[in-house]
Parts: sequence; structure tokens; C-alpha cells
Amino acid sequence: MSWELWNRVDEFVGETLLGSDPVLEDVLRASADGGLPAIAVSPAQGRFLQQLARIQGARSILELGTLGGYSTILLARALPEDGRLLTLELNGDYAEVARANIERAGLGERVELRVGPAQEGLRALIAEGAGPFDLVFIDADKSSTPEYFELALELVRPGAVILADNVVRDGSLVDPDADDEGTLGMRRFHELAGRTQGVSATTIQTVGVKGYDGFTLVLVDGARTG
Ligand code: SAH
Ligand code: DHB
Ligand code: MG
Repeated sequence: MSWELWNRVDEFVGETLLGSDPVLEDVLRASADGGLPAIAVSPAQGRFLQQLARIQGARSILELGTLGGYSTILLARALPEDGRLLTLELNGDYAEVARANIERAGLGERVELRVGPAQEGLRALIAEGAGPFDLVFIDADKSSTPEYFELALELVRPGAVILADNVVRDGSLVDPDADDEGTLGMRRFHELAGRTQGVSATTIQTVGVKGYDGFTLVLVDGARTG
């Protein structure tokens, strides 16, 4: 079992199921040209995100960590005409590339991008009485995922989906010697989600062109209060 094999399987999935998507290919090209790191979700994961948003019937989506807007565009495409996606990005240079990509994808009207630290952005949204959101995609700095999760809970409707990316991190999640902030954050996030009343959560490990990682899917109960 190797990365090479995972790559070939992702390639096969791309050829058989995903097809070509010139807009998304342009997005990745423009992101690379802009010097952005190649850390967007994979095409297969992106389709999965989009399908999750459709299954959820999402009309309002919140994303933390825009990068070049690859996942943003996939999620926004799942929205109905009058649906809205709000995405928060710390890096102003990345945000410029993302804005151009989102415009080129024809989604400028549906997507709002705010530049700044996600934690401040979330607090501002709570103060504004924004939401409630149907789906939240947490994909910013990994060490703050537990804090983002707690704040996201204030912004979602009963029945919402909260998805966190990069939670397994090559398995360092369970490596007792791992002490990087991201891994510690993901461990804390699991502990927090596990003891939070009124939600149910699971983590699915993934392999593919983006290596060995995983995501956590949290479902907020219909009757959850506070
Ligand atoms: N969701 C994107 C990938 C995001 S990569 C996709 O799959 O296409 C993680 C992003 O989080 C980077 O763009 C990084 O600049 C941003 N980020 C890092 N720290 C942040 C913070 N404190 N607040 C908001 N965004 C942050
Ligand atoms: C990183 C961030 C991501 O969202 C990802 O999917 C992979 C890597 C990173 O910050 O290194
Ligand atoms: Mg990610």
C-alpha cells in the first residue's frame, strides 16, 4: 500500500466518475501561478463536499480557510440560486487569487469572502446575528479547530452539518510523540466533539493524492439547545 497506488486510484476515479472541469482546472492553475500551496481538497474530496452540501439541501454555507477558492467553488455550486456562502481567509494575497477564481467561476454574487483571522470573523458573525448556517466547512489553521467548532455551534441551525478537514494528519493524531500544534488541536477537537451534548460525530480516514488524512463529520441534533 503506497502513495503511488493511492494516486493511481484517484486518477481512475477522476477519469471514470469526475470528468474534466475546465473551470476547476483554471482555478488550480491560477492558484499555482499565484504561488499558493497545493493544499486544496482533492477533486474526489471536492465532489464529496459538494454532494454532502446537496444532500443537506444547504442554502447557507460557512467556510473557514478559503485558500484559492477551490473548495469554496465546489460548495457554492451546490447552492440554489438564492443560496449564500461566506468564506473566511487570513491571507490577503490568497484572498485576491480566490476572489478572481470565484468571479471566473461565475459565483461572485453567491459568495462573500472576508479577510482576517477566522476567530475574529466568527465572533463578528455571532455579534451580527448572522446565520443560521446549514453547513460549516472548517479548513483553516488546524490548531484552532476546537475553537472554531465551538463558535460554529453558535451559528448553525438544528440539523446542521459541521465538517472538519485534515484531522488525521498521517496518523499523528494518535502518535504519543507528536507535539505539533495542528495535531494537538485535532486531538482536542475529537475530545471536545465527543463530549459535546446534542451532536454526533465520526471521523473517516482518507488516502489519495493528498496523502493520508481524514475528516470529521459532525451532525448537530435537531433538538439541540445551547
Ligand atoms: N479550503 C481550501 C484549503 C484551505 S488551506 C480548499 O480545500 O480549497 C487553509 C487556509 O487557511 C489557508 O489559505 C490559510 O491561509 C488559511 N488560514 C490559516 N490560518 C487562518 C486563520 N487564523 N484564519 C483564517 N484562515 C486561516
Ligand atoms: C494544510 C492545510 C489544509 O487545509 C490541507 O488540506 C492540507 C494541508 C496545511 O496547512 O499544511
Ligand atoms: Mg484542508
